[in-house]
Amino acid sequence: MGIFKDVRKNKVNAMDRIVVLDFGSQYAHLICRRIREFKVYAELVPYDISVDKLEQIEAKGMIFSGGPASVYEENAPMCDKRIFELNLPILGICYGHQTLVYNFGGEVRKANREYGSADLIIDDHTDLFNGLNSTMRCWMSHGDTADKLPDNFRIIAHTSNSFAAAIANKERNLYGIQFHPEVVHTEKGIEVLKNFILKICRAKQEWDMKDFINKTISGIKENVEDENVLCATSGGIDSTVTALIMHRAIGDKLRCVFVNHGLLREGEEEEVVNMFEYNFGIKLIYVNAEKRFLDRLKSVIDPERKRMIIGNEFGKIFEEVAKENGPFQWLAQGTLYPDIIESGVSKGPASLIKSHHNVAGLPKKLNFKVIEPLRNLYKDEVKEVGKLLGMPELLIKRNPFPGPGLAIRIIGEVTNEKIAICKRASRIIEDELLKVNMNDKIWQAFAIVGDDKAVGVLGDKRVYGNIVTIRVVESIDAMTADWARLPYELLEKISNRITNEIENITWVTYAISSKPPSTIEPG
Ligand code: XMP
Repeated sequence: MGIFKDVRKNKVNAMDRIVVLDFGSQYAHLICRRIREFKVYAELVPYDISVDKLEQIEAKGMIFSGGPASVYEENAPMCDKRIFELNLPILGICYGHQTLVYNFGGEVRKANREYGSADLIIDDHTDLFNGLNSTMRCWMSHGDTADKLPDNFRIIAHTSNSFAAAIANKERNLYGIQFHPEVVHTEKGIEVLKNFILKICRAKQEWDMKDFINKTISGIKENVEDENVLCATSGGIDSTVTALIMHRAIGDKLRCVFVNHGLLREGEEEEVVNMFEYNFGIKLIYVNAEKRFLDRLKSVIDPERKRMIIGNEFGKIFEEVAKENGPFQWLAQGTLYPDIIESGVSKGPASLIKSHHNVAGLPKKLNFKVIEPLRNLYKDEVKEVGKLLGMPELLIKRNPFPGPGLAIRIIGEVTNEKIAICKRASRIIEDELLKVNMNDKIWQAFAIVGDDKAVGVLGDKRVYGNIVTIRVVESIDAMTADWARLPYELLEKISNRITNEIENITWVTYAISSKPPSTIEPG
């Protein structure tokens, strides 16, 4: 956990905020996003967050997300009951709605499942449904329903299937809705959220990226004071934006290290060094460790071992750099909000643990204080910050690239020959997608090369050459992904260029497996 928690309360983000308790809904994040879209800062927290922590956040109101459980099941996720004593306005959505009913002494039972669209008939147009028509299409996804309302709660809207599709205890500012206002299929869902947040919670619309940048910069200055900060940058959007914002705050007290492990995209090392020096005026400590990494990866086949080796080697280099250029008291990291969720810090039931995706190998013994200026942001928000801080559009649009780089796109041993093939073929794929403006529609596009070979005829000569596999996927968050249905003509062009421009490639294949069961990267 970085220092950002202390920083944000009084300095960095001293703005009105809403907390969303994550009861396991796939839409919990989306609720936060929707609220931020109308400029109120919203933050996702685990459903079992302590009352102390909640008090520290000083939220103006709370939303209980949906979730797959039933309140009457054993081990159903329940928040700490003392949360209700904080007397904050609460909006429960779906399971969150049922939690309110259950906690205040009402009854919830299994009902006819209601999935998809339904007509919501509004019975009370004051506050939550203020300004809305008497009927609106809403999106439902539930198997349970409120059967008996708790004392002091009234029905404010219903559907033909749910007599209590929306309920309220207005004296205590408690609201429950069975439908999902955050999804696009709910007409005017945003208006419902706005009524709750702006009118009932009275939160101010203070969340603005320029403002975020200014506040973050002054927060960093106050915390770092005269000390020195080291930042490992890969040239990717998260670490680059972190470096940029840190540099704006503390100038040359920030030193950035860029380690070239030899497993980068074609031309990437020059691009990164130039971008830092010429676009941003930040001089990098550039470490060319190509040979070192390749030596360590010799004969290694297992992808997890490759990751560990790369992480450890990276850590060692980092330690050396810190000793040579230090002392550094701080480490700046480009952690984003979803990284915190994915690495299991938020213990919401929907969270997944993907420890191998974290920056591996940074040695703990260096004893850095950690600063994570982007830890409250989502990826697209980071892109917006990057744009405002002058990051080139082309780099903002670039596909995500894994820390271990080509090592996990090369199946089997990592060799110079395979690295060269992978780099060139990936660049061809990226180029061709860019030409037809498809880059924005896909999540990642790259080439894979392994040890399998196939026969071909190149210039009248029989050649037993390498196979290159093209992987192009669409995804929203990389948790699931689907292979992109690229036009045949485009695939043909990519295939022709790969066989023509790269020596000894005889076959090109297209990966048509989704995640799950496959993963995006082959290693
Ligand atoms: P998978 O292959 O797990 O990838 O479907 C999901 C997303 O994560 C990226 N990825 C990684 N990123 N270190 C990283 O920094 C890793 O070890 C790693 N493995 C996968 C992958 O590129 C995709 O965007």
